[in-house]
Amino acid sequence: MPKLTPDEHGRFHLPADFLNRRRLEPQAEYWLDERDGDLILHPRRPDVRKLYIEVTTACNLNCQTCIRHSWVDPSAHMKRDTFERILADLPAFPALDQVVLTSFGEPLVHPRILEIIEKLRERNLMVTLGTNGLLLDDRIARELVRLGVSQVVVSIDGIQPDTYADVRGAQLAEVLENIQRLNEAKRQAGAVQPTLGVEFVAMKSNVAELDSLAELAGRLGVARAVVSNVLPYTAEMNQEKLYGYEPIAPLKSGGWPVRSDAWMKWGITELPRMHWGGEPHCRFVHDYSIVIGWDGGVSPCYALSHSYHYYTIDGIEKEVRRHTFGNVHQSSLADIWMSEEYTRYRSAVRAFHFPSCPDCDLRETCDLRLENNACWGPNPSCADCLWAQDIVRCP
Ligand SMILES: C[S@@+](CC[C@H](N)C(=O)[O-])C[C@H]1O[C@@H](n2cnc3c(N)ncnc32)[C@H](O)[C@@H]1O
Ligand code: SF4
Ligand code: SF4
Ligand code: SF4
Repeated sequence: MPKLTPDEHGRFHLPADFLNRRRLEPQAEYWLDERDGDLILHPRRPDVRKLYIEVTTACNLNCQTCIRHSWVDPSAHMKRDTFERILADLPAFPALDQVVLTSFGEPLVHPRILEIIEKLRERNLMVTLGTNGLLLDDRIARELVRLGVSQVVVSIDGIQPDTYADVRGAQLAEVLENIQRLNEAKRQAGAVQPTLGVEFVAMKSNVAELDSLAELAGRLGVARAVVSNVLPYTAEMNQEKLYGYEPIAPLKSGGWPVRSDAWMKWGITELPRMHWGGEPHCRFVHDYSIVIGWDGGVSPCYALSHSYHYYTIDGIEKEVRRHTFGNVHQSSLADIWMSEEYTRYRSAVRAFHFPSCPDCDLRETCDLRLENNACWGPNPSCADCLWAQDIVRCP
């Protein structure tokens, strides 16, 4: 640990090897913060690597699992000027290389989705599209290939048609046909991208079909299958959850061979954690990500990007209030990212400076956790977060 000694003017100089190791410019600016009596320097750096853009909150489906049963937010498309503002701010982020177009809506219902993808691809950004797959017709499939989309992740919550229809209110055969359209468009163009992913929300009513996921994935040429547990937005979904506070046997699913360019590789299923108590780790913050809502509001993660209620792991009904650190219509994305409040919040999340409400003796009577507050640490609190436990996941 290098010792910092002030010079004759009372100024501290950061050692060169420290700056090199952290890849910090000598002229970098910092926020000087305190936590538990320690002094902390937070570099003010535009080091965003990944953007999640919610192009719409509208959807062509009304799945049983969906947040739309629990929120009061409007059904709206991102406006052209909101997207243009985001685009104008991108050059400020030299490390940004990835954009995920999904969130709590269906991106393919946005009337200008292809134009949005094209503008992102012109900036050489890798684009992932998360979709229910029902609007993936021939034209869209060909365009996704032509535009060089990196990955398309399609939600499939049942391998049997009836199970899928129960969750999604739609026909599995249509989605499978659309996935094959995309495969055909790739074949005709001689393209290996977009690679295909599927997301499966595991519940009591469909978990028996998880065994068949690898076989289906192999048949469809899927490169990765992401399994998430259900975030219970309703009492009905709370009855469907498979995970719990106490240790539970992990889910199982096999692998499958998948062709990748000239190679064969092994497709894998990414399984979620099944019980509370893991070392908390927020993928959004650790991946240097930003979530931008349909109206330009900037949130740190999906969990805080809307106002809704859900059931915590120990069954408490919690009201989550949307939290934004700014809006692209009022400030630049770089200013929002490097602001004191957002920088300090990310630091608290990285250190996971929050209590664990499900482990607290007061958990059943505490009013603070009925909303996303807690008795210590910053608010909004991550104290009950199922994403940080890897129980709930996203592509
Ligand atoms: C909200 S959707 C938006 C994208 C698109 N409309 C779709 O369904 O794929 C994003 C992902 O969240 C998943 N999802 C929906 N409800 C969920 C829940 N209650 N818990 C966990 N994941 C959920 C969906 O299956 C999907 O893979
Ligand atoms: S398709 Fe996606 S956004 Fe639409 S209702 Fe289903 S989970 Fe929600
Ligand atoms: S907010 Fe604090 S007191 Fe309340 S349940 Fe969580 S840890 Fe316990
Ligand atoms: S609420 Fe969860 S996902 Fe959001 S910042 Fe906190 S730990 Fe990350």
